[in-house]
Parts: sequence; C-alpha cells; structure tokens
Amino acid sequence: MPSSTPTPPKIPKAVCPVSSPSGTSTSDPHVQFPNLTPPGLKHSLPFYAFKPWVKLGSPILLFEHLLKTYGNIAQYRFMGTPIVFINDPEYIREVLVTQSSSFVKERTVKRMKVLLGEGLITSDDPFHLRQRRIAAPAFHRQRIAAYGDQIVAIAATQRETFRPGQTIDIAASSMRLSLEIVARTLFDTEVTDDIRRINDEVNTIMDLYNFIVAFPRIESFMHLPIPGIMKFRRSKARLDAVVDRLIREHREAAARGEPDKGDLLSMLLASTDDQLDASGHHTGMSDEQARDEVLTIFLAGYETVANGLAWTWYLLSQHPEVEARLHTELDAVLGTGCDARLPTLADYPQLRYTEQVFAESMRLYPPAWAMGRMSTRPVNLGPYSIPTGAHVFFSQYIMGRDPKYFPDPLRFDPERFTTEAKAARPKFTYFPFGGGNRQCIGESFAWMEGVFSIATIAQRWRLTYQGATPPEVQAKITLRPKHPMMMQLEPR
Ligand code: HEM
Repeated sequence: MPSSTPTPPKIPKAVCPVSSPSGTSTSDPHVQFPNLTPPGLKHSLPFYAFKPWVKLGSPILLFEHLLKTYGNIAQYRFMGTPIVFINDPEYIREVLVTQSSSFVKERTVKRMKVLLGEGLITSDDPFHLRQRRIAAPAFHRQRIAAYGDQIVAIAATQRETFRPGQTIDIAASSMRLSLEIVARTLFDTEVTDDIRRINDEVNTIMDLYNFIVAFPRIESFMHLPIPGIMKFRRSKARLDAVVDRLIREHREAAARGEPDKGDLLSMLLASTDDQLDASGHHTGMSDEQARDEVLTIFLAGYETVANGLAWTWYLLSQHPEVEARLHTELDAVLGTGCDARLPTLADYPQLRYTEQVFAESMRLYPPAWAMGRMSTRPVNLGPYSIPTGAHVFFSQYIMGRDPKYFPDPLRFDPERFTTEAKAARPKFTYFPFGGGNRQCIGESFAWMEGVFSIATIAQRWRLTYQGATPPEVQAKITLRPKHPMMMQLEPR
C-alpha cells in the first residue's frame, strides 16, 4: 500500500486509551500516548474542488486518494466538520466494537431520517436498542431457515421466465427477484403493482439521494417547493401509502383472530419489549414505528442483495473457470439431467463454493460500500486523537481491494473465502455486514437469499455479459451498476 506516512506502531488493545477532554489518555495514568493528529488535507475539501479525486457523487475517488497519499488514517475538513477516513482493521474494530459507546451514526445517515424515519438504521440508543430487541426474534437463524423454500420457489419461478438467447438487464431482474422475495417472505404479501411501485420509487429516491443527503439540515428544508425535494416527497408519500396498507391489513387480520403466517411483519407487530406502559402492559410498536421499521427493512433488505447478485453474475460471466467450478458443485449437490432437483434447506450447508462466490463478489463490489460514525467524546485510535464531533468513515470497497489483505486484489478468486483463508485474516478486513451492536440484522437472511438465488438460476442458466466495457459503479446508499447490465441467457 503506497503511503507517505509510515504506519504508526500498534498499541496493544488492552491499553487502548479513551482521551480525557484535555486530550491526555486516561485509561492508564502511567502510560502516555503520542496523541497525534492524523495526517491529511491542509484545507477544507471545497479548496480541492478541481482536483481529479474530488468529484460530486464519486466519494470512492476521495477515499482512494487519501489512502494512497496518507496511509491507513487520514483527515480532512468539510464545512467545519473534521472527517477521518480509516482503513485499518484494528481502528475499525475500535469504532464498531471496542469504543462503540463513544460513537453514534454520522450525519449523512441521520439525514436518511427524511426517508426512513426512526428505523433501526437511523436511530441511536436507547431507542435503537429497544427496537432491535423487538425485531431480533423475527431475524433469528431458525426463522430465517423457514424462508429457504420460499426463496428457492421464487427464484425458480423467475428462471422459468428466461428464454434461450434472450438478453436481459440482470440488475433490474435481480431487483425484481429480491423485491419479490422480501415482499413474500418478510411481509407475506403478493407482489402487486403497489409493491412493484416500491422499486420505481426507490429508483427515484436513489437518483436524488446524493443531492438530498449532501444538503446540511435537510430536515428543515423538506417542506420547501424545491423541485428535487418535491419529487422526493411525492415518492416518499407513495412508499408510505404502500407500507401503511401492509400494516393495516396485518393488524386487521390479527384482530379477526387469523393465525399469522410467521412472516416478519406479523412478528414485528406482535412483539413487545420488557418495558411496561403506564397501564402495566408490555409495549409493542406504534403504527408509525412499524412503518419506519418496515420501510427500513424493505430498503435495507432488497436493494443490497439485488446489487450483490447483479455483480456476482457479472463476475461469473468474466471468469469461466470459477463459473465451471460453481456448476460442478451445483451438479454434485443437486444432481444432473432428469435427477436434478431444486435446492432445499438440507443442501444449504453443502453449497460452500456458491457461498464463497457470493462472498468474493461482495469483497469486490460490497453492496454497502462505506460506513460512518460520529464521535460523541474525544477518542484515541492508536496514537491518534479524534476530537468530539468528528465523522469517521471506513469503506468495505477500499478495504476489500487493499493488496495488504487481499493480494492481487482485482482477481476474482472465491478461494479467498475458504474457512482457513478467512481465519488467516484480521476480522475487520472483510465486513460487508458491518459489525458490533449495529451489525446487519438481516445477515443470515442475505446469505441464504444470495446462495439460493445463485444456485437456483445457475443450475439452469449461464449468463454472458453483453457490454463492450466493464460496468461502471455508482456509489449511492448501495453500490449499484450505473447503467443497465445486459446479459445474454444460455441454457445449461
Ligand atoms: C447483501 C445484503 C446486505 C448487506 C451488504 C447489508 C449491509 C448492512 C450493513 C453494513 C449494515 C450496518 C450499517 C451500519 O452499522 O452503519 C446493515 C444494517 C442493517 N441491515 Fe443489512 N445488509 C444486507 C441485507 C439486509 C437484509 C436482507 C435485511 C433485512 C431483511 C437487512 C436489514 C438491515 C437492518 C434493519 C440494519 C440496521 C441494523 C441495526 O442498526 O440494528 N439487511 N446492513
């Protein structure tokens, strides 16, 4: 990794300090730490507006520049806010796990409240902790297992619509698949036009996203007749209407005494936490809270997996040797010719290489490509002092392409995800689902959806990329292909 600043010596974790407000370390009064300021840009970011690495809508360029120029920790300022970019697994662990109580979600995430309200992604403790407790049983591994057959059935229905020689946009097709899976398994609803509309509204919102979240104090402007904001408001209102209908129907079915079908929304609505309200009842979610959570889970749950799948199909199409090995595994586990059958839950543990393919694809194209936190008190990362109110960012995309941890990083090689290879790397070199107490609640669901969708479709079809150049990435909330990803279908 090129760096003009030598990597500072690591400080043993057991004595990692939390600075006092004066900046001196307090965890061990006998140990003094250098309390360095991270290296970085001298001026505020707009000063560099004409540099090739500063491009609105392409934050990856800036992060790549910081890593290349300053090493694994670098700072800059934007509108008075100190921002620190880190690319060191130990520092990331400090932020997400060891010193997580000194951080909250950073402001860009907070601005997502205009879309997601006080849902699991945007809220902070103690509210977040209560919501997470209520939602946790619905995401329990055993519950998720029950969705396996439905995932396979939905993917199998999609593969039946494919025709030999047909060219499809696999990004759009993966979105449809994943939306259908989330709608049926998590919300027990048919994919009506209403639900399909979610896709259109999300696309509109994503197009406006960078504009909306780059706006300081966006909450105060949401009522103004600014064209972008009006369009956003209309899309959001239509999304809310769909979700409100789902909640109403579920509540009405429960009131009629109909047994719930074990879907996530029923569980969310039925769950209560340990606290009692004024009349001594265990409290559950209000309709408004439920709407924020449903929207959060809808968006977090379908857009991410869909992008992960689209990139996987692209990578497989470029690496016939990996594709051949994947087919070998599928044929061995699921049979061939007349004996071939669809995957079942019992096959899941056998589909190891399929899982490795999905994992490696999320290394190169992590659907959640960056994360951030804001410090609520002064903290130290190694020998560096981070002041209160600093935004600390780290990127799955940048880390996943760091040759220090992934030699020959652009090579697509699922062997990097054998049990042994994974154990040989520090934990926070690969964190597609985040970590610590805010780790993705849908991780088990996402793995199952990814593995079963790949297995079901690749069992019957090969996809060949039709673009003349590699697809461009678009780093919005998720890492999307910028243009339609056209693939030709050939039966196997
Ligand atoms: C490949 C697919 C997915 C990826 C890469 C992904 C990634 C992530 C990441 C990185 C976070 C942590 C964000 C942070 O700490 O700032 C997160 C949180 C979350 N994810 Fe996922 N996710 C995926 C699929 C899902 C699915 C399928 C669901 C639901 C069905 C889901 C629901 C959530 C929720 C509710 C949170 C917030 C958790 C909390 O803060 O308590 N995600 N996800």
